[in-house]
Amino acid sequence: EQINKGKYDHYMQKEIHEQPESLTTTMRGRLIRGGSRKTKTVLLGGLKDHLKTIRRSRRIVFIGCGTSYNAALASRPILEELSGIPVSMEIASDLWDRQGPIYREDTAVFVSQSGETADTLLALDYARENGALCVGITNTAYTRQIEGLYRVALAIGSDTISSQKRREAIIDGLLDLPYKVKEVLKLDEEMKDLAQLLIDEQSLLVFGRGYNYATALEGALKVKEVALMHSEGILAGEMKHGPLALVDENLPIAVIATRDACFSKQQSVIQQLHARKGRLIVMCSKGDAASVSSSGSCRAIEVPHVEDCLQPVVNIVPLQLLAYHLTVLRGHNVDQPRNLAKSVTTQ
Ligand code: AGP
Repeated sequence: EQINKGKYDHYMQKEIHEQPESLTTTMRGRLIRGGSRKTKTVLLGGLKDHLKTIRRSRRIVFIGCGTSYNAALASRPILEELSGIPVSMEIASDLWDRQGPIYREDTAVFVSQSGETADTLLALDYARENGALCVGITNTAYTRQIEGLYRVALAIGSDTISSQKRREAIIDGLLDLPYKVKEVLKLDEEMKDLAQLLIDEQSLLVFGRGYNYATALEGALKVKEVALMHSEGILAGEMKHGPLALVDENLPIAVIATRDACFSKQQSVIQQLHARKGRLIVMCSKGDAASVSSSGSCRAIEVPHVEDCLQPVVNIVPLQLLAYHLTVLRGHNVDQPRNLAKSVTTQ
């Protein structure tokens, strides 16, 4: 067992720290930058023959559970931007419970790490029966799932000249991601210190929006499932519609406020939380620590800046590290979370 874990104490720790390599492996031969005209190409064997049909879809529906749902949610904005097709989100069990509308004109994209989650498979049968074009995307590890989904978005959008520059910037950004993830992993000690501070807390709220709403959900899910601490990912735009009532000087709140089109809105969220004496941890882009702390004291975690839509891949890493260290410090089993099966093959 120790041989498989190599120099790491736990599989989860290994998985977190090996993300630069796993991202490199998953992109190798599938994202190509080069040639005399510096062309940038995305290769997606399985989908190639269906791209035209997908582009004609009335909508794309992402379907999954847990982390896989969150990976799909993280990819939704870029898929909408590059394809121009409305993308809706479905939690597999909820789609099935509601027997929600799925049409022949839909492309249903099923996202799963194991490929054997019962709820997702049931929803797949259901979408098939309703005549939708069904696509399955499987990949292990959240960051790899997002990378794979971005390649799908790039391929679907590849017939649009007006977005060519954006697509090229995303491809460049994807290829640089392993280096950026390596950089953000250097926050390990800082996240361990933070975990030490939070060790006895009952709850942690995580506020995100835009590209990083999914990061908030996934960070909170990890804290919940491995550290066994209540945690909730909240859409920052919803703060005034309820969650603000929880804010006091005791409850720790993480706010994701890296640079993108939502940055100024997140700054105003931070000000409002400071005004209520919130106990803040702010994830911001490198160089922004002073500006996010200007309205009150907070603990700032600076992360490398990448192309806006790729920021979720970088931003989830400190939260993974936090969840890992919290789990170890609280004395829980990191690699076998309580009450959870590796894949959920029953309903
Ligand atoms: C397990 O680590 C995940 N947090 C869990 O939510 C999982 O994503 C969910 O059960 C769906 O599994 P799948 O990706 O294998 O379909």
